[in-house]
Amino acid sequence: MKVLGISGSLRAGSYNGALLRIAGQRLGDGIRLEIHDLSAIPLYDASLDGEVKPEPVRTLLEAIASSQALLFATPEYNYSIPGVLKNAIDWASRPAYASVLANRPAGILSASMSAVGGARAQAHLRDVLAATLTPVYPSPDFLLPMAQNAFDDQGVLQDEAALARLEPYLRGFLDWVIAHGR
Ligand SMILES: Cc1cc2nc3c(=O)[nH]c(=O)nc-3n(C[C@H](O)[C@H](O)[C@H](O)COP(=O)(O)O)c2cc1C
Repeated sequence: MKVLGISGSLRAGSYNGALLRIAGQRLGDGIRLEIHDLSAIPLYDASLDGEVKPEPVRTLLEAIASSQALLFATPEYNYSIPGVLKNAIDWASRPAYASVLANRPAGILSASMSAVGGARAQAHLRDVLAATLTPVYPSPDFLLPMAQNAFDDQGVLQDEAALARLEPYLRGFLDWVIAHGR
């Protein structure tokens, strides 16, 4: 099974990128996390969204189409998701209700530098994914608060409590994906 990991942060040293990589190491045998970098995706322009789409968009669409599930890790920017992530979803969302995102199961993680950061971004992401008919794993939000204290300099998660919450989240997510039957 291939799970496509999508981080809403382009930042070098991103905590969300690090969280995705750690999740990828814990998915279990036979399940591969491929992380897709959104940095080359142009700003959405409907006049470029024809038969032949920009090459980075085609690559994104192929990566989504060849995955059994999506795993997002998103920061919260001004109480919502980063424009980078919304922009990529907008590209992937056409044709409406019949895009590569439709009926493709997704999980959501977030890391932030505050105690409650990420919760509002996750709520917004769930709303956006409702528009694309992307089912989201029905679970309490997986939030990694105070991320600046949770990782060491190599991006290894040192927060044992967070790891102890991540494992059951991923197990439940994968069971749900398999039950979803994609
Ligand atoms: C433009 C901008 C807006 C932000 N807004 C919020 C916010 O609303 N809530 C929050 O908890 N953190 C906010 N932050 C802090 C980010 O959550 C924090 O920088 C986080 O580490 C970014 O994720 P990353 O490490 O994956 O890049 C904001 C950061 C930026 C750059």
